[in-house]
Amino acid sequence: MAELKYISGFGNECASEDPRCPGALPEGQNNPQVCPYNLYAEQLSGSAFTCPRSTNKRSWLYRILPSVSHKPFESIDQGHVTHNWDEVDPDPNQLRWKPFEIPKTSQKKVDFVSGLHTLCGAGDIKSNNGLAIHIFLCNTSMGNRCFYNSDGDFLIVPQKGKLLIYTEFGKMLVQPNEICVIQRGMRFSIDVFEETRGYILEVYGVHFELPDLGPIGANGLANPRDFLIPVAWYEDRQVPGGYTVINKYQGKLFAAKQDVSPFNVVAWHGNYTPYKYNLENFMVINSVAFDHADPSIFTVLTAKSVRPGVAVADFVIFPPRWGVADKTFRPPYYHRNCMSEFMGLIKGHYEAKQGGFLPGGGSLHSSMTPHGPDADCFEKASKAKLAPERIADGTMAFMFESSLSMAVTKWGLKTSNCLDENYYKCWEPLKSHFTPNSRNPAGPN
Ligand SMILES: [Fe+2]
Repeated sequence: MAELKYISGFGNECASEDPRCPGALPEGQNNPQVCPYNLYAEQLSGSAFTCPRSTNKRSWLYRILPSVSHKPFESIDQGHVTHNWDEVDPDPNQLRWKPFEIPKTSQKKVDFVSGLHTLCGAGDIKSNNGLAIHIFLCNTSMGNRCFYNSDGDFLIVPQKGKLLIYTEFGKMLVQPNEICVIQRGMRFSIDVFEETRGYILEVYGVHFELPDLGPIGANGLANPRDFLIPVAWYEDRQVPGGYTVINKYQGKLFAAKQDVSPFNVVAWHGNYTPYKYNLENFMVINSVAFDHADPSIFTVLTAKSVRPGVAVADFVIFPPRWGVADKTFRPPYYHRNCMSEFMGLIKGHYEAKQGGFLPGGGSLHSSMTPHGPDADCFEKASKAKLAPERIADGTMAFMFESSLSMAVTKWGLKTSNCLDENYYKCWEPLKSHFTPNSRNPAGPN
């Protein structure tokens, strides 16, 4: 496959034409009486028409047929997609999952949509407030099927296997250690090349933004220029009665047939697009004196709530970096958080837990549930001689952190059969080191 081209930047007004049809974008207006090349004009709105300019999102698509050329939608099998947050009783325990099992190609063909499994979530789809975390487990390309989500945006984190994603805006290749965001309403179809696994953070009613940087200044963390947007690409492909458009609408799956590929957009312009980002490009900020900055310094993207500083969900990563803090317990501190923290591991070993938390697995530490390094990590880090050291080389852990109190699904707790019943035991060996008669016990330094 020829190397794909992208436009660099975050949230900008962009314009793109498939080079096979130069001049496909109308000049000076969006909706001419007759479009160049006799295309149809269609607007895709990602915000209310009346949003302030800073948050107004829409794109104009110039396509061979408009999206409305389809048969009626009909309800289809939900599989393991749900937005029912009352399937099982609440459980405040620390939860950890072994790597979620990918179906074997030889046993059952599963594509990205039929391989969606909702793990946890909160909020209400109909009022556009909340989130869901899904695991995708698949082994087959979607072929003549595409998907779009009426409920929210998907932030997709591939963990095993690359994704070739056809979108109405063009093609993206997304490999493990890269992420992509496909925003509400955008149609896409995913080709996979092996048994493939990953994580999805879905947010309802809001879009991901770059976090404010405050005193960090104008640069750092995820830099806007490192986000990549596909360039226009179309296929004029007839599939008489045989192309299926799948829609997630109010949490349920529906399918409609049409006669043509939906990837028939010859040119587009606007600021509402899919995009991808390579996590290697994240510029890490960290303590260079003592103590920890809070993990918010690792925020890649945030989906803000209406409360200042409070996110519906943040996407946070723990990339390779230097640890140099003096006189400091360097692993993550023990804590209890009003936010809910789901963690996943793309590759390597997470520093606070060397075993048990594996690539393709996950953990959930719910609102105010205590957590922190396991006993082994505490003992080692309390005694370690502190020199500058590399942390997390070859590793990429991430967190979906939410201000909502998430419920776990029946699939997450039972059907997946991946819940690690022994997770709590990693803290059991923690013992008291209290020395009431000696304020200054001998330390390693
Ligand atoms: Fe935490």
